[in-house]
Amino acid sequence: MNTYRLALIGFGNVGQGLAKILLNRGSWLKNHFDAKFLIVAVSDLHKGSCYDPDGLSISELLESVDNTNGLEEVAAPQLGWNSLQTIRESNADFIIEISYTDLETGEPALTHTRAALQSGKHVVTTNKGPIALYFPELIDLARKHNVEIGVEGTVMSGTPVLRVGMDIMEGAVITRLKGIFNGTTNYILTQMETGISYNEALLKAQTLGYAEANPDGDVQGHDAAGKVVILANLLLNIPLRMRDVPCRGITHLTPEDIISVSKSKERWKLIGTLDKTDNGCDARVQPELVPHNHPLYSVSGVTNAITYTTELLGDVTLIGPGAGRIETGYALLEDMLAIHRNQSGT
Ligand code: HSE
Repeated sequence: MNTYRLALIGFGNVGQGLAKILLNRGSWLKNHFDAKFLIVAVSDLHKGSCYDPDGLSISELLESVDNTNGLEEVAAPQLGWNSLQTIRESNADFIIEISYTDLETGEPALTHTRAALQSGKHVVTTNKGPIALYFPELIDLARKHNVEIGVEGTVMSGTPVLRVGMDIMEGAVITRLKGIFNGTTNYILTQMETGISYNEALLKAQTLGYAEANPDGDVQGHDAAGKVVILANLLLNIPLRMRDVPCRGITHLTPEDIISVSKSKERWKLIGTLDKTDNGCDARVQPELVPHNHPLYSVSGVTNAITYTTELLGDVTLIGPGAGRIETGYALLEDMLAIHRNQSGT
């Protein structure tokens, strides 16, 4: 049995999603994968911080957050460590980096990720900022310190688009990809098809928790552009940067624009595209009219999708969740299990 100690940097929706999965499925994971995952530390800027080298009680963590929106009710020998202390001084093998970030500086997630790799700890993250901005540096740092970095949840949450594209379809050779990478905008566009205004639809998306803290990044297309950059770096091995992706969002689309195209059996979708070229790739994010016979046409609401075009297999489309507490928590588990397989040789 391999035992892995986890430190969670951030304990918002995603961290709580992972904690719930481990609480409900811990025994099954032990039996099925021969792997035991202990949460030894949680450090959250707003909720507080606790550390027990022998493992914290997951039910206490979740109950405390439910009752107090903080970690006050958790019994632990060490309280109050900040994120960097937790990363450097705890006995964790995995740093689960799920604090917050942006697509301009990547901070503070970037500093956490660097510190964890430099401390010889595996990093698993769903934070797009550091990966979209600094992936080549971070993967080098991980190799130098002989640890791994798992990033599956940065694109389409737990829907395994990165792993499928990088590992399983590598031999088919991906030449192009096109996708709906932002749930908030897809939800807004789907809602506007029913005749409601952009502002009403955005408010609903915010109430349902789909939008980023600042929804400008969603509706102006930057969140989708970040995912396109990550896909270029990981799947095509091209060091694309945010500035290389021309980006247009959905804010100019009116309900009339959206309803009028239904007659021609088309739909407006915010589409991210990557085309491999002789010198690298062309990338863009923009609203596009999708015809009814394309698989992306029927992808509604908060659901995401990606169509890979390959040399040997033609088009392959994956459709699945792109956000959500359990769905993104599961993305972390996917990476943890992949690292477990690599470490244990199973
Ligand atoms: N705000 C993002 C979305 C969350 O709407 O898709 C997942 O990155």
